[in-house]
Amino acid sequence: MHVNSEFYVLLAVLVAAFSYVASSTCSDSRPNIVLILADDMGWGDLSVYGHPSQEWGRIDQMAAEGMRFTNFYSASSMCSPSRASILTGRVPPRTGVWNANYSSISLFGPMDSTGLPAEELTIAEVLREAGYRTGMVGKWHLGTNQYNSSDGVHLPHHHGFDYVGTSLPFSMTWHCDEHQIHIPKPPPFCFLYRGAELVQQPIDMHHMTESIVEDAVSFIEDNVDRKFFLYLSLTHTHIDLTVTPRFHKSSARGRYGDNVNEMQWVVGTVLDTLQSRHLQENTLVFFVSDNGPDVNICEEGGSPGILRGGKGKTWDGGIRVPAVAYWPCRIQAGHTSKAILSTTDLLPTFAELARKQLPTDITIDGKSMSSVLFDGSATSHEILYFYCADVLMAVRYGNYKIHFRSQSVSPPEYYDDDSTCVNGVPQDFPFLCYDCEGDCVTSHDPPLYFDIENDPGERWPLGENKIPEEVLLRVASLVFEHKKGMVARSAEIGSEPLDPSLQPCCNPPACTCNYPGKI
Ligand SMILES: *[C@@H]1O[C@H](CO)[C@@H](O)[C@H](O)[C@H]1NC(C)=O
Ligand SMILES: *[C@@H]1O[C@H](CO)[C@@H](O)[C@H](O)[C@H]1NC(C)=O
Repeated sequence: MHVNSEFYVLLAVLVAAFSYVASSTCSDSRPNIVLILADDMGWGDLSVYGHPSQEWGRIDQMAAEGMRFTNFYSASSMCSPSRASILTGRVPPRTGVWNANYSSISLFGPMDSTGLPAEELTIAEVLREAGYRTGMVGKWHLGTNQYNSSDGVHLPHHHGFDYVGTSLPFSMTWHCDEHQIHIPKPPPFCFLYRGAELVQQPIDMHHMTESIVEDAVSFIEDNVDRKFFLYLSLTHTHIDLTVTPRFHKSSARGRYGDNVNEMQWVVGTVLDTLQSRHLQENTLVFFVSDNGPDVNICEEGGSPGILRGGKGKTWDGGIRVPAVAYWPCRIQAGHTSKAILSTTDLLPTFAELARKQLPTDITIDGKSMSSVLFDGSATSHEILYFYCADVLMAVRYGNYKIHFRSQSVSPPEYYDDDSTCVNGVPQDFPFLCYDCEGDCVTSHDPPLYFDIENDPGERWPLGENKIPEEVLLRVASLVFEHKKGMVARSAEIGSEPLDPSLQPCCNPPACTCNYPGKI
């Protein structure tokens, strides 16, 4: 076929013009990165994920203009291990952030001397090495003090963050519940920090979010001329659900919905700041929840949607989370991805975007999801592993979810039973089964198989004879290799006796303070 040379000239001009336009609006340089984490928000809690009465907001809009994930998993069903995995790209047993007492209740408290081990490489350390300025605002929950009540050995500035704004070392805002809705008498575990300093005790929950937003915005504004990474770790939508006055009764759904609406405002404020500072073209914003909803407290705990179980369990309701990636220049709008991905993928993805090689002597469980984000390909993990402490409970393999052990869900077994919830409030002390072994845990040999694609509620186990032979063999061999290669760190949580002298206390012995200029 004869094509004349003018055609090639025209083509070259078009290509050049197109790449000029592309490079002038969508820079090819390394992006800023904003990671926004929600706390205990379920897979079914946002309007864009199908919640019937939750108001549409900026996160939903961000999903509509970006990429929304339906098979995105957290590496853990609980706060501290989940956060450790997000920051390190490693499953919890490797990080040491798991409970020595074989429980999925893995939370650092004010009397713990331990925290995320200093040797663990975090996203902040990787990006700082790559020349980014790193900032953190909000909930930390990876340890506080080691030797005394104010040494702050485990706080974020020791894990790669140049700037730490208004922050909470613990996830326990429910201890700040002045109305005592979820806890009869609040113990004094309610601390607000700024940097390494305790600035308010107890926290004024009605104004805390404003301080968090102000600090997130000013961190962005202070760094418009350089690359930055912001880790905005929200207190939403964990109980106690106190909101700033303008979101009080803003939702048809009640207090939980008010809290979601406030969170949407926080996210919208951050997006508006990026836009007004002309940073939107060169910033990846990633939103994800740390684990599933606390279904034990009924409607105030959030919704896993059609998934089974919630926080603390390795049923999908505890580990499958809402996730949205937003970068209008590079990510196709309105795309829903079914790729099977994990919070451990964030570190390798961000490292790739920052063009920073990761050290080869560390086992990272995640992998970069750049092909999913930018090419729209559905490159999934072949398998994902889910732990309770250092016990392998379940895996996700293709369309299968496979349980080796499972924890009981509130009797009589299913999420759609409301007998413990009257008017959205628990009637009894909730039935908890957060153990990894013992009475409420069932071992499955052969394992329990679900076709999670067609049975997302994990209701109807399939007999082994229904599973293709090659799937059985492949899963067995992957799990065998994974276990063989697993080098767990010893447990940080519950390994040392609790030490009351480590409890933060401002203005001792009063342990109350409010330093307005510092918040
Ligand atoms: C471990 O669990 C048992 C049973 O629940 C409890 O009695 C014990 O106090 C726990 N130990 C620690 C260190 O948490
Ligand atoms: C706490 O420990 C740090 C570091 O070891 C020390 O600098 C500080 O003075 C100690 N503070 C108190 C109140 O003992």
